[in-house]
Amino acid sequence: MTDSLSPAQPPAQDDGADRVERVEHRWAVYAIVLMILLVAMAILAGLQQATLPQSLVETVDPRTLHLAGEFIDSNLGSAVEPDGSVTVRAIGQQYSFTPECILVPADTPITFRVTSRDVVHGFLITGTAINLMLVPGYVASLPARFQTPGERYMPCHEFCGVGHEGMWGRIKVIDKAAFDQMAATTKRLNCVK
Ligand code: CUA
Repeated sequence: MTDSLSPAQPPAQDDGADRVERVEHRWAVYAIVLMILLVAMAILAGLQQATLPQSLVETVDPRTLHLAGEFIDSNLGSAVEPDGSVTVRAIGQQYSFTPECILVPADTPITFRVTSRDVVHGFLITGTAINLMLVPGYVASLPARFQTPGERYMPCHEFCGVGHEGMWGRIKVIDKAAFDQMAATTKRLNCVK
């Protein structure tokens, strides 16, 4: 009975199955092309990274900071460079910064150079974008400029042990003329009392 009523149905079903197969085939091709593309991108990105030169990494021996090199105690603090800019060298250690109060002039190019004596510490100046991670063995360096005089806090923001919460310092930005006057007689400045 069905034979006489719908003689064309079996071919129609075949058409439907063919169409489904074609669509599935197309999706499979898309998926494979996409996978090949992603793998190719990963390979290219890896090759590019492997061939590019490393960004500047400065190392320093945390065990001998106090004995030699730019982080000896007498060289810490703010120093005026021949070009008029100021370099600030500081160290983080469990659980303080040296110097604990950093003194810098307003409206002057400043370079922070900071490292750690023991474990990872954080160096952050509140109200600014200055935010460094102090990793023992490496020098964290950052250019900065403070437009106006004022005082800001400098908390350690990387958990560094039981005394972490008590590890913080201050940074005092003073008038450029006043700073230059002090720098005329003192080679390394800070505001530790
Ligand atoms: Cu140093 Cu937290």
